[in-house]
Amino acid sequence: MTYDRTIIITGGAGFIGSHVTRLFVNKYPNYRIINIDKLTYAGNLANLKDVEDKPNYKFIKADICDYEDIRKIISSNDVSGIIHLAAESHVDRSIVDPFTFARTNVMGTLTLLQSAREYWEPKGYEGCRFYHISTDEVYGALELTKPEGDPSAKECGGGPFGDDFFTETTRYQPHSPYSAAKASSDHFVRAYHDTYGMPTVVTNCSNNYGPYQFPEKLIPLFINNIRHRKPLPVYGKGENVRDWLYVEDHARAIDVIFHQGKDGDTYNIGGFNEWKNIDLIKVLIRTADRVLGRPEGADDDLITFVTDRKGHDMRYAIDSTKLRDELGWEPSLQFEEGIEKTVRWYLDNQEWLDSVTSGDYLKYYEKMYGAN
Ligand code: NAD
Ligand code: DAU
Repeated sequence: MTYDRTIIITGGAGFIGSHVTRLFVNKYPNYRIINIDKLTYAGNLANLKDVEDKPNYKFIKADICDYEDIRKIISSNDVSGIIHLAAESHVDRSIVDPFTFARTNVMGTLTLLQSAREYWEPKGYEGCRFYHISTDEVYGALELTKPEGDPSAKECGGGPFGDDFFTETTRYQPHSPYSAAKASSDHFVRAYHDTYGMPTVVTNCSNNYGPYQFPEKLIPLFINNIRHRKPLPVYGKGENVRDWLYVEDHARAIDVIFHQGKDGDTYNIGGFNEWKNIDLIKVLIRTADRVLGRPEGADDDLITFVTDRKGHDMRYAIDSTKLRDELGWEPSLQFEEGIEKTVRWYLDNQEWLDSVTSGDYLKYYEKMYGAN
């Protein structure tokens, strides 16, 4: 079989990467999709079980910081597109171990950019694209100017917890080592566009939720804890606000932007769906209890307020109007429906949750690929 083009997806064994890989492998049988992943604790090939035998899918275990490996993979496979998701992604880990975040998120991105440039520049970048997936956290934090929430906010054109949003022109002001490293990688991508003429595109997305998210992040961690009746550690007073987007909607946006986004441009992706943590947690408890057949309120006492995250950003809210107006993308799923699907998925896939929380999947990789 000959393919129209070969695309690398980095971090395809992670949460969002697995959804993007699945979408591309199934939707584009004419593309060869190479998933490059180091399989850190966050990478899990079980996330891709349903596509691993497809003829247009190939997995390569590699570190994006390994310049020789990455150069070889790009040239020997005649790669013309890179969708870059591989990263260290958990804010709490970045507070404990910032060096790993600088290495992977900054040096890894730079290694990919330079390797792609060496192969693409002599061909004048014809038909090539480097798509960098970033986060809304690079913009810093918004204030909570309406702490009680304003249910009529949408009609007034503002957010329920404040009238301002992050737009594509908001100044970068990262606070955590994670967001500082992501901000730095975004700058490198733009520098490769402006300096070397590389066709790049950057997107900054809000919090994703859905199946296959590593249970260190709020939603899967709390669903798993509710299932085991373990305490739910709410940072601070639970007043921080996040804007939640169903992961398959993010994957759809990535598809649209990879194919139709303007070279050198930036697009914000978000759900216009802001929730205060404590309110979201109450919805999670109510939904999980209903699905588990427990009486309403049975697990409310699991809520445990703990010491706040250092430098905890108060509010994120993304304005994705540009993406809607220019490329016609909008979130497809209502939050109630998305949360119901998500809670059911984790409770129906307890084997996946158990293997991830016990670390069993890592032992399997060590046997297959050697230790990292
Ligand atoms: P994740 O932690 O679930 O997955 C990251 C993947 O990258 C894993 O498979 C891991 O093995 C791989 N990886 C890590 N270091 C690597 C290296 N050195 N070489 C090769 N592979 C490596 O992350 P996620 O939540 O799916 O996030 C994916 C991307 O999207 C990240 O760039 C993140 O910054 C961005 N993002 C995430 C969210 C979110 O809510 N999760 C929102 C906006 C943007
Ligand atoms: O905004 C996009 C970002 O969203 C991505 O770039 C990151 O990769 C992703 O991890 C996510 O970052 P957050 O820090 O917002 O997600 P997290 O799930 O860690 O936390 C969500 C909120 O819940 C945050 O305000 C912290 C709080 N929290 C989190 C955990 C894990 C708790 O109160 N208790 C917890 O145990």
